[in-house]
Amino acid sequence: MSAFAARRARVCAQMVPGAVAILPTAPEAARNSDTDYPYRHDSYFYYLTGFTEPDSVLVLVAAQGDKAAQSILFCRQKNLEREIWDGFRHGPDGAMVTFGFDAAFPIEDLDGEMARLLANAPAVYYALGHSATLDMQMKTWLHNVRRGARTGITAPAVAHDLLVLLDEMRLFKDDGEQALMLRAATISAAAHTRAMRASRPGMFEYEIEAELLHEFRRNGAQFPAYTPIVAAGANACILHYNVNSAQSRDGDLILIDAGCELDSYASDITRTYPVNGRFSGPQRALYELVLAAQGAALAQARPGNVYTAMHDAALRVLAQGMLDTGLISRARYASAEDVIADRAHQQFYMHGTGHWLGLDVHDVGAYRDVTVEDRPSRPLQAGMVLTVEPGIYVRPAEGVPEQFWHIGIRIEDDVLITADGHSILSAAAPKTVADIEQTMRQA
Ligand code: GLY
Ligand code: MN
Ligand code: MN
Repeated sequence: MSAFAARRARVCAQMVPGAVAILPTAPEAARNSDTDYPYRHDSYFYYLTGFTEPDSVLVLVAAQGDKAAQSILFCRQKNLEREIWDGFRHGPDGAMVTFGFDAAFPIEDLDGEMARLLANAPAVYYALGHSATLDMQMKTWLHNVRRGARTGITAPAVAHDLLVLLDEMRLFKDDGEQALMLRAATISAAAHTRAMRASRPGMFEYEIEAELLHEFRRNGAQFPAYTPIVAAGANACILHYNVNSAQSRDGDLILIDAGCELDSYASDITRTYPVNGRFSGPQRALYELVLAAQGAALAQARPGNVYTAMHDAALRVLAQGMLDTGLISRARYASAEDVIADRAHQQFYMHGTGHWLGLDVHDVGAYRDVTVEDRPSRPLQAGMVLTVEPGIYVRPAEGVPEQFWHIGIRIEDDVLITADGHSILSAAAPKTVADIEQTMRQA
């Protein structure tokens, strides 16, 4: 059984007996006139099917009595003319065999088949309130089922959010996913190394971005997992900067936040380095601070520790460093605890220290234990993958030492929680001051 079929079986096993789950893939999106954005399937749909064609819907029917669970695909029919223009289609018969479904139908049959599948089903599972299209379709299907009421047919009386169930499954990466995410992160690490080696003062940010994209693609990655950030100098203080159009100057730091998507799985790496290959004194001081904060967070990345322990550890180091470097005045705050209590650190560190990573760059999964009264932060467990990404961003302001103005630094790695600690999937990207300067000298 494929990993995809095994996941479908696990979903069915968690559903009410006889219930029906419906999961469409993502729609295509027009970019202009007759040109579409590059197509990307829905992550949940892919997780359960491995099927990447648009216009597809997965239907699962949970086992009931002596009736086995069923997984059914609706997809585009084969069409020679369309295949000449746009490429291969599996068609229902081909998809059924290749992807191991119990049945498959043309997508045009969806409305008719849904009336049949939903008849007498006790409950329905779908992404509640996520798609106006699906909500409308559900209304039509249920209406059609209810029309049979006088012959004794009943419509599902209960709706469950399918995504809650899938989010929890997706949070724990199996061996195949872990291997794929290591490959994705390794390609991205090579791209960061390539960008460091190619960088020279005076280069435009987009020229450096081109080095990243080149490395992603030549290694088979299909897309960047998100729009790459290549920020020279002061642009690094814009957290979601991504126009990547400015020219670097000698003495700038370059902050690159970029990761590829490989076979649907994201990587997400940030490195910050001097465009001329040598950190200045103030750059090095803040860089070492962020690196120490990341080290403190990583030391918490092991099973049993709660998710927020990583952020708390990074924040303590950063707040102390803000006092030690004079970014925050000792005349106003006596200790790191005071800085944090007053949220004074937010002037320079205003984001969280990470997020789940998987099929989506900001992956799904609960961060808190919602089964406990006050919803505490969740303990880490083996198989979770997350990012650890502290930073510091210094905008000019009164009282802030001028030597640090416009410095923006973030260091981000992709981390797999293992049985006895963690493994850094993105470890191949140079990170210490010595490694970065050495890497750039080799250029
Ligand atoms: N690249 C998005 C993030 O770091 O969360
Ligand atoms: Mn990132
Ligand atoms: Mn990230």
